[in-house]
Amino acid sequence: MKQLNALIGVMDPNSYSFRVAFEKLLAFVDPKVKYKKKSYHVTSRRIATRPYDILHAECPYKAIINRGAHWNPHHNSFFMTIGYQTYLLNDMITFEAINKNTSYGHMYKLGLHIPKTIALPQQSYKKLKKDSKAIPELIFSEHEFFSLEELGEEVGYPAFLKPQSGGGWVGVVKVESPEELVEAYNKSGSKPMNLQKAIDYREFVRTVGVGPQMMPMHYNASAEHSHDRYMRSEFEAVEFDFLTAEEEDEIKKIGKIINSFYGWDHNSCEALIGHDNVIYPIDFANAYPDSTLTSLHFHFPTLVKSMAKWLIFCAVTEKKRSYNFARNWPRYFEIAEDSSLSYKQKLDKYTEIADEYFETQKFDEFCSKYLGSFDEKAHEFFASEDFFSIIDKEVDYYFNIPSERPEKKQHYRGIHHYWLSMEEKRLQSQKK
Ligand SMILES: Nc1ncnc2c1ncn2[C@@H]1O[C@H](COP(=O)(O)OP(=O)(O)O)[C@@H](O)[C@H]1O
Ligand SMILES: [Mg+2]
Repeated sequence: MKQLNALIGVMDPNSYSFRVAFEKLLAFVDPKVKYKKKSYHVTSRRIATRPYDILHAECPYKAIINRGAHWNPHHNSFFMTIGYQTYLLNDMITFEAINKNTSYGHMYKLGLHIPKTIALPQQSYKKLKKDSKAIPELIFSEHEFFSLEELGEEVGYPAFLKPQSGGGWVGVVKVESPEELVEAYNKSGSKPMNLQKAIDYREFVRTVGVGPQMMPMHYNASAEHSHDRYMRSEFEAVEFDFLTAEEEDEIKKIGKIINSFYGWDHNSCEALIGHDNVIYPIDFANAYPDSTLTSLHFHFPTLVKSMAKWLIFCAVTEKKRSYNFARNWPRYFEIAEDSSLSYKQKLDKYTEIADEYFETQKFDEFCSKYLGSFDEKAHEFFASEDFFSIIDKEVDYYFNIPSERPEKKQHYRGIHHYWLSMEEKRLQSQKK
């Protein structure tokens, strides 16, 4: 039987650990799959930035992981040109079109518990005024005056003033009073903003999704450094069972629904569990979810494995995707409008569409039939010196102060040893 090369393209120029761990894991496992009378050898290749012939653009990849085309229009046009020939994970059509606001609006219509949010036009038009083609008299006469104080009262305090399209907490301000709101808005500049009711929460959950696989993690927003936010506390890396079974089920469903609704294969959803036990999603349009080892520590191997399994599945089954990302919306909204259904019943019905979209059952069957020994091989890779050297190098890249690095290497190596022993136990218990 002739062996076909199922090549996976990797575009992730700004992160070291994720792309290298993915590539090395794939090369170590070296998947060879006989699927529907064909034999596939799954390999990966880095997608470099280089010139290409746009009229004869060819796609050698059966699947592509795109983490960064939103920063690089050169890649974006290549991906959109050849996207129909492959399984592109994530495309910029949706991430350009759908920002925080749009997704808040849609998900609220589906019945998810989005906190009250009012969109505010940008405070400053300095850039526009400098534009020689703009005619301020025409543009500004179309603006309505509004009272920020009244809007603040309508939303209630405390509230968050944050950019409609943002990331990395840039420009996010908590306001406790009308005065603070006015001050924050006056400083907000040329970005359209949102004013959102603050949720008083008891648990912050960040769920990273890869295809239909959802990985909820506890998140500590009060940690000073972003790399410490997935730590349960200063002394504890992870707490298992921090969610009840029902909470975990609901959170995973919410993540899967959002990602299938927009056709996002790799996205993160931040949700807050309030003291009222309601789950409030607050940030879930993230084209480039943080997947760095220094942030994710214990969770990192699972994320890399999920990505490998999903891409192997997409490449071997030659999964194709539709760029008409809104094609299932009428089905979702029909369920949303059915007043005989409860919130939980709606989630179940949306999840059916999501599982159909991702082909979850086919994926699960594929994993058990063709990737039965994947987890064991992966454990071998993650226990190897090759992986430990990725930890060390990521620390060297991430932490700027050289004297900090030895301690950080120990910290991440220690947590990783813990993952290795937990995973070994899990694999052994599966064999029994
Ligand atoms: N409605 C809210 N209630 C409570 N905390 C919030 C709310 N909105 C934002 N925050 C806090 O601000 C942080 C940044 O806001 P977020 O919407 O996630 O923006 P970004 O896209 O920059 O991550 C969140 O991680 C959370 O800690
Ligand atoms: Mg966020």
